Amino acid sequence: MDSAISSLLSTRFYFQEGLNVRAYEARAAQEAAMFEDHLPFYRALALACCGPVLELGCGTGRVARAMAAAGVQVTGLDLSAPMIREAQRLNVHKRLDFVLDDMARFELKRRFALVVIPFRGFHELLTQGEQQACLFCAFAHLVPGGCLALDLFDPRPEIIARPFDPEIVDLPPLSLGRATLQVSVGERRADAVRQVMSEHWTFREVAPDGRILSQEEETHTLRWVQAQEMEEMLTNAGFTQLRLTADFSGSPYRPGREQVWVAQIPSGSI
Ligand SMILES: C[S@@+](CC[C@H](N)C(=O)[O-])C[C@H]1O[C@@H](n2cnc3c(N)ncnc32)[C@H](O)[C@@H]1O
Repeated sequence: MDSAISSLLSTRFYFQEGLNVRAYEARAAQEAAMFEDHLPFYRALALACCGPVLELGCGTGRVARAMAAAGVQVTGLDLSAPMIREAQRLNVHKRLDFVLDDMARFELKRRFALVVIPFRGFHELLTQGEQQACLFCAFAHLVPGGCLALDLFDPRPEIIARPFDPEIVDLPPLSLGRATLQVSVGERRADAVRQVMSEHWTFREVAPDGRILSQEEETHTLRWVQAQEMEEMLTNAGFTQLRLTADFSGSPYRPGREQVWVAQIPSGSI
């Protein structure tokens, strides 16, 4: 990768080698417990489609490993080199491989029965153009009759209407070996025109005697999508049968909850 591009990428969330990546799996488990566990949903879909599965924005391979452990062939794709290195380090499955690439522009020369973008990874694409391009790429990598599944947060009015929220929230501490990881999140800025919001994250590794061993500051920027815009983007990309629910157990969509999408391409597509 070009060095100018890699230094630009290193300023993005998940793209630095450090505490965020090291603590990602523990933090994801904490968040899944706080919200709703999505692993059984993606694992069941992978089994129903009989693989192979492509996961876009696979991070450390948490969901990809769960699908591979169920016996499915899985490829994980992510643009963050530290995340892909961590995924490779944690992998124990022969039927799982990883690719460093951009989910908005990739060409793997292979097709899959299922493409998934779990844990709100689609929001990491920061323009409508990038999000639409990702859906075109997903479509092009599916076999006829194949499916795309992804989950998003449904934008809540109190976030969109408030351009700056100064509140800083401390997440429950996590253990990091003998040290503790303290994470605080806040100073949320929202741009309703671009549909992006960003939060300032501070990660601190604290020794048992209270000394700060290391500290990392990152900005997490996400683009939110209304359900109607998502439906239009999926339809533009060629998906025909669309199913939208409010959670992983199939409850009807309700504004302000989640958007869980399963979209299929026609069985006659090439
Ligand atoms: C919220 S994490 C989800 C990771 C994983 N799917 C999981 O459920 O644990 C989002 C991931 O998207 C990746 N990402 C961000 N922009 C990307 C892009 N343009 N192409 C591929 N991956 C990207 C990040 O590096 C990060 O690993």
